[in-house]
Amino acid sequence: MAVRKKKKDRRYSKGCNNQALLPRGSKGWPMIGESFEYFGAGWKGHPEKFLHDRMSKFSSLVFRTSLMLEDVAVLCGPQGNKFLFSNEKKLMQPWLPTTIAKIFPSSQETFNSGNSKFRKLLINVLKTEALQQFVPIIGDVAQQYFESKWKGKKEIMAYELAKTFTFELACKILLNIYDPELIKYLFGPFEAIGKGFLSIPIDFPMTPYRRAINAAKFIRKELVAIAKQRKIDLNEGKATPTQDILSRFIVYRDENGEFPGEDEIADQIQGLLIGGYENMSTTCAALVQFLAELPEIYHGVYNEQTEIAKCKAPGEQLEWSDLSKMNYSWKVAREVIRLTQPSQGYRQVMTDFMYEGYSIPKGWKVYWTALSTHKNPELFPEPEKFDPSRFEGNGPEPYTFVPFGGGAHLCPGKEYARLAILVFIHHLVTKFKWEKINADERIVYNPLPHPAKGLPIRIYPHIS
Ligand code: HEM
Repeated sequence: MAVRKKKKDRRYSKGCNNQALLPRGSKGWPMIGESFEYFGAGWKGHPEKFLHDRMSKFSSLVFRTSLMLEDVAVLCGPQGNKFLFSNEKKLMQPWLPTTIAKIFPSSQETFNSGNSKFRKLLINVLKTEALQQFVPIIGDVAQQYFESKWKGKKEIMAYELAKTFTFELACKILLNIYDPELIKYLFGPFEAIGKGFLSIPIDFPMTPYRRAINAAKFIRKELVAIAKQRKIDLNEGKATPTQDILSRFIVYRDENGEFPGEDEIADQIQGLLIGGYENMSTTCAALVQFLAELPEIYHGVYNEQTEIAKCKAPGEQLEWSDLSKMNYSWKVAREVIRLTQPSQGYRQVMTDFMYEGYSIPKGWKVYWTALSTHKNPELFPEPEKFDPSRFEGNGPEPYTFVPFGGGAHLCPGKEYARLAILVFIHHLVTKFKWEKINADERIVYNPLPHPAKGLPIRIYPHIS
């Protein structure tokens, strides 16, 4: 035990050794650094290329680069993931790229302080036991969604509709908003935020970036109003949901016994809505894409889900216990996530430290992405091959499959994502078969993943 600790201390230590070198790598061009190379790899459909090229040229453990005007150390491989997830708060704290922080100015402080005040609550309200009660509700939402958006149509744009599903579900589960007009009213600005994320950050009137800044302000104002109204209803004992996420935020007291303000609640809810939106929409759309391309995988999922459906009375919703029977479907979903989600995050270095013999100075940014392991042929042989059997038995080695991050900032929506994705799959395959209209359409990254042409598909309902 003592020997192991000694070894660990030599590789990672607090404080910089003046003689030690910075990680090897390139600073790229003046001002823009290596941003073009980084984003360019994603636009070409292979965001991992930026990473893997530098891992083989400089080091498979850590290299330096310069992105968005910042000096960045990129931690790679399972060791990098483990190090980062174990040293949050001690050596690093979360950091939002300046262009994103400008869209959410009030969230920046909460984000930089590590969300510690609400983190416990988030984990609590989104943990498995708390979410079990939502399974039939998610089922209702999925059923209505497929009936209104897929049924009776010959062709649809699957990515656009996956976004609608994700957003409607979040409105209903997090905020108990069921009014379709209100959902539509909030969806427009939400889309504008998404487009602003992906645009060139030029803050002039009418640019997508400025629209995103305005849309985020608008959404926050609406959320503050919704939170205020709910507080009044709860205080006056009016009939109002007490168990949804919004109400739980309102009645939450921190360690000093204080209730959060509406502004803080709005920031947290906005964080949850944004945190899950793109990831969930892409995962649902990518599922539709892979299941269309891989008939044998579709049949495996279809067989599993129809067995579950057979045990249900007409109109009876899925329950929590049904999800444990969806082993194959969950392996398929995880393989979809492995292949499509470039899960990632930035941290700001709080104090100089040594990592693998290199010094990482205070003020630098640290970047991690699951692509350094998810697409690594040594960890996932033939990484581009769709192979759900990778998740059989004990599954991938620790710190190699990390779609939801880890440590202090592990995704709090991970369990919600699992439930929603499985329920989506159930309704999808038990009701429909479909084919891609553009056989060669692929996922591209700009920098977030999405099907290149919006995934138009032709649908064929199952005859029941
Ligand atoms: C397939 C679905 C999802 C994926 C792949 C995903 C992935 C991630 C990852 C990798 C992180 C950590 C980022 C970092 O280390 O900086 C994260 C954080 C976060 N996610 Fe998710 N997520 C998903 C769904 C969701 C959902 C549905 C929600 C909300 C209900 C959500 C809310 C959040 C929030 C609030 C954070 C920030 C946590 C913190 O900084 O402490 N995510 N997610």
